[in-house]
Amino acid sequence: MTNTYQLTLADIASQEAAYVETIFSLANGHLGLRASDPVMTSATAGTIVNGFYETRPIVYGEAAVGYAKNHQTIVNLPDLRHIHVQTATGDVFRASERQATTLNLATGQLTEQFELRTAADQRIRLTLTSVVGQTTNEIGLRYQFEAINYTGQLQVTKTLAAIDGDEASDDPRKARQVTSLNFATAQVSPRQTNVTITTQTSHKAITLGVLAMGEALTQTIELADKPVLDYIGAVSVIDQPLPAMVGDFATIAADSAQYWRKVWANSAITIEGDDQLTQALHYNLFQLNQAAGRDGVTNIAAKGLSGTGYEGHYFWDTEMYMLPYFIYTQPELARQLLAYRYSILPQARKRAKALGVAQGALFAWRTINGEEASAYYPAGTAQYHINADIAYAVGTYMDVTDDRDFLNQMGFEIVLETARFWAQFGSYRETQAGRRFEFFDVTGPDEYTAIVNNNYYTNRMAKHNLMLAQQLARLVDPAVLRRLNVLDSEVQAFGQIADDIYLPYNQEHQINAQDDSFFDKPVWPFESTPKSHYPLLLHYHPLTIYRHQVAKQADTILAEYLFPADTDQDQLLREYRYYEQITTHDSSLSRSVFSMVASRLNQMDAAYHFFMDTAQMDLVDLQGNAADGLHLANLGGSWLALTTGFAGMHIVNGQLQFTGHLPAAWSKLTFRVRYQNRLLQVEIDQQQLAVVLLEGDALTITIDGEIQTIRQA
Ligand code: BGC
Repeated sequence: MTNTYQLTLADIASQEAAYVETIFSLANGHLGLRASDPVMTSATAGTIVNGFYETRPIVYGEAAVGYAKNHQTIVNLPDLRHIHVQTATGDVFRASERQATTLNLATGQLTEQFELRTAADQRIRLTLTSVVGQTTNEIGLRYQFEAINYTGQLQVTKTLAAIDGDEASDDPRKARQVTSLNFATAQVSPRQTNVTITTQTSHKAITLGVLAMGEALTQTIELADKPVLDYIGAVSVIDQPLPAMVGDFATIAADSAQYWRKVWANSAITIEGDDQLTQALHYNLFQLNQAAGRDGVTNIAAKGLSGTGYEGHYFWDTEMYMLPYFIYTQPELARQLLAYRYSILPQARKRAKALGVAQGALFAWRTINGEEASAYYPAGTAQYHINADIAYAVGTYMDVTDDRDFLNQMGFEIVLETARFWAQFGSYRETQAGRRFEFFDVTGPDEYTAIVNNNYYTNRMAKHNLMLAQQLARLVDPAVLRRLNVLDSEVQAFGQIADDIYLPYNQEHQINAQDDSFFDKPVWPFESTPKSHYPLLLHYHPLTIYRHQVAKQADTILAEYLFPADTDQDQLLREYRYYEQITTHDSSLSRSVFSMVASRLNQMDAAYHFFMDTAQMDLVDLQGNAADGLHLANLGGSWLALTTGFAGMHIVNGQLQFTGHLPAAWSKLTFRVRYQNRLLQVEIDQQQLAVVLLEGDALTITIDGEIQTIRQA
């Protein structure tokens, strides 16, 4: 039987080193450790700190006004797990083979076994146990040595290994290696070394330290004793000194176990009939939790803290794919993630002005420090929808928590400033069909179509953003309205514009149209495209892709998923069928959305199929690039497909509703969510969906179309 809280080498796609490093990475929202080989150095090994980046000017062959100015690149820091091991006569154990690896998702402990070898084929076994503190930034590292064919003395030195160079690549999803770093090493005591790394351009500093629990960082040990050496690693907060290390392995392990106990109390999932799938979902949520910045000034990178892909940038991925999980299970953390967006509102106001929009704010498409870091505006800055995505997440957070304090301090201002942007960015146009409000030259979520007029998703989301601003203006403290110079007339105008926003429709296919020109284009020649030419982005010039009907990911279908009341089932089915045929799913953000919509359409085979690809994406390396880091949005998408797809969870006009659609392969699905200070357990079997109230006051909800009031037993 599969242990659903454990992952081993047998559960994953390959034993390729960089891939294994990603899958078994450990983190705590601030620091991330890849599960790299402890005696070797490699370009992919290392420690990553959320928000610790270097900048460098973006060099354009042909520049223009308002282009993003600087790269922001997450820095691969020295590997805290590295260790130098040699025999008494100085033969170094340089080669190693991974033999076993077990990640315990219930405690956060990672245990790995390696066979180490010298050039003369002297062999020993190393068992390394790593655990990351969850309320501290300390790491417990336990190295246990055993003889194989070498039995004598070992000299072991705990080091902070530097990183080897990287190769250049044309893959836009990879990170560039940062070379402009200064390293200052301080031997604090025979037991402790610190290294402070400063970036030359972004002027940031971080300190990493290692502390031996024995007498010194270098120790001589007898293999016959099966020696165990403990060390503590630690990472400072950015721009702060490293505090004294106070934990030992046991206290760090206990801190980690306690944290995970709390997470699983609200996040555990059971799928009766498929333990392996339950395990995959637990893994996904484990990594989602590890990746989320908890301090209110960092967020969740597209690859979390598992790798340097996408340069450690934060995208719309957070709000549309990951935040719902946190909103419904750990609202305090969701608030911190939204606080990050609030913290970069000044940069977003500047960006709006740079784009010629005097009012409001435009959030950067990809960023760490709040400034736009996308050097390719057609699939970057032009994705204005990020503004409405962030506002949408504020709306969901308010629906689930009713946190007025957040609304007054941050939430309203985010929604207001994004709404102000839309009101100025769009324009009225007289058409034969009447006067309507439109948005020109935008890019929707589908990055295989760029710079088009009236992208359905963008327009629909902007409409929601404006309506939300109007709605929250009634809830927020009037003092906030005064502080932000909000007049009644402005709020009314938001409502009017929302009503007048044009939503494109295609008469021929009787479906909502991805944008004004989408259906004028020829369909991509799928039949003559070899399998090896996917993802298309690695084989065709962007313009070749843009002039065809082909979608990288869900676009209009995503809007349909978010606004279930907009479209009847017949139209939804037509849309789903049409867009499904022309979508390549080259983005990892695609399949989860198709699964949710297929569930709503009771297309359960398709929903299940898309879900399985989503749930196991990185464990089977479906996208083929998990070595660069996990696909965090998809991890969140797997939770969404389960809860909002199979359980049909939605909030409609302030009321929580569920509609059960259980795949035939399962006998029962159980999960928990928090909702307005309550804890609910949702249970779906082949007959019915039931919601059990575990904590909190009675609640009226809708289950399969029927209104019910649930009370604690
Ligand atoms: C997707 C974007 C996503 C980005 C980061 C791209 O491949 O098309 O929607 O934000 O990856 O995950």
